[in-house]
Amino acid sequence: MKTFDDIEVRRPGIARSYLALLGAQPGRPLALFAPRRVGKTFFLDHDLAPEAKAARLLPVYADLWLHKSAPLEAVNHALEEALDDLLVPDSYVGKVARTPVKKMGLLGASVDLGDEPHRRTLPQAAALRLDALVTRLARQHKGQVLLMLDEVQTLGDAPDGVSMVATLRAVLHKRREEVCAVFTGSSQEGLARLMNTAGAPMYQFAQIIDFPILGDEFLRLLAEHFGKVHRGKKLELGELRDGFRQIGFKPALMRDVVKAMSAEGITDVRRGVENYMASDHQVSIWLALLNSVDAFDRGVLVAVAGGQPPLSQATLKRLTAIPGAKPTISKVRSSIEKLKRGGLLSKNALGLTIDDPLFAEFLQKRG
Ligand SMILES: Nc1ncnc2c1ncn2[C@@H]1O[C@H](COP(=O)(O)OP(=O)(O)OP(=O)(O)O)[C@@H](O)[C@H]1O
Ligand SMILES: [Mg+2]
Repeated sequence: MKTFDDIEVRRPGIARSYLALLGAQPGRPLALFAPRRVGKTFFLDHDLAPEAKAARLLPVYADLWLHKSAPLEAVNHALEEALDDLLVPDSYVGKVARTPVKKMGLLGASVDLGDEPHRRTLPQAAALRLDALVTRLARQHKGQVLLMLDEVQTLGDAPDGVSMVATLRAVLHKRREEVCAVFTGSSQEGLARLMNTAGAPMYQFAQIIDFPILGDEFLRLLAEHFGKVHRGKKLELGELRDGFRQIGFKPALMRDVVKAMSAEGITDVRRGVENYMASDHQVSIWLALLNSVDAFDRGVLVAVAGGQPPLSQATLKRLTAIPGAKPTISKVRSSIEKLKRGGLLSKNALGLTIDDPLFAEFLQKRG
């Protein structure tokens, strides 16, 4: 290991336990939920996909967020790519070599390659195509497909999310011999919406799992590397744990904090987090985030960060201080909806909160 950036924690054991769960309940997907930036996508990519391959499954990844208005198309696209990978050898040469050559002239005269071998075209309708693709891919792979759908809460926001969830559910059930699926999502709010989508609650369909945050192993690796860089200086595990909790268990952020501490040569983690939060770099990110919403929404954010009930009379009164604002309950409601969709606010068991705990602290200090 050479730098802080090379520090990675692999969790093959968790991946294997998820695969075992999938194997034990055919047709039922797992839904992994956790806050933003804690390592869900990293896990799919670095742990689940390799373990799936080792178990002779074919992992296929799709990010539904990238295709927000038509998430099912994103799934189909990923399946089509996977099918292409199986059908078409990597290089173009390989590709043309598989088609019977009709005519070949030397020295660039005329090269006429035969038609690509092709199969019956796939159905146009996204729902039918999903069904056909899954079947075709599994047959081609001669084994089960593992569909990894990232940012699945997007389905809850899509215009026809209800029918999409129903389709997904039907295909995963009908083709349970051919395909299994893992969903991940970050928004508790999106999850709640999804749960009540498509007639039957999602939790009867998918098994919902709290995705585990990284533990001491990651913090120990950070401390170890710090110790190598600064002989004689030591980061305390307990302090690292507190700091990690304070920043919302986000590994990339924690690494940045420790990197900055290393640059400054300090070992007090609490001060490290404080310095990091006060750094120009971080402050400008938060200011940009704040400026991405209008003055009224900013007021609502500050109220939530300050722990005030956003729909209370006291909050409404405070919001009147914003020039031009005529706050009403329904205006605050729609502002909250907007902020939730933008990922700035989220709802958890304790109620409405600022999604990023450090941003919340920043707002409190400014508020
Ligand atoms: N196991 C790990 N070991 C080391 N670093 C990690 C690990 N998992 C995640 N990270 C770091 O945290 C960053 C964020 O992880 P990732 O993108 O997987 O989070 P996420 O939960 O998918 O976030 P989002 O909700 O924004 O999609 C990664 O870019 C990586 O640098
Ligand atoms: Mg992700």
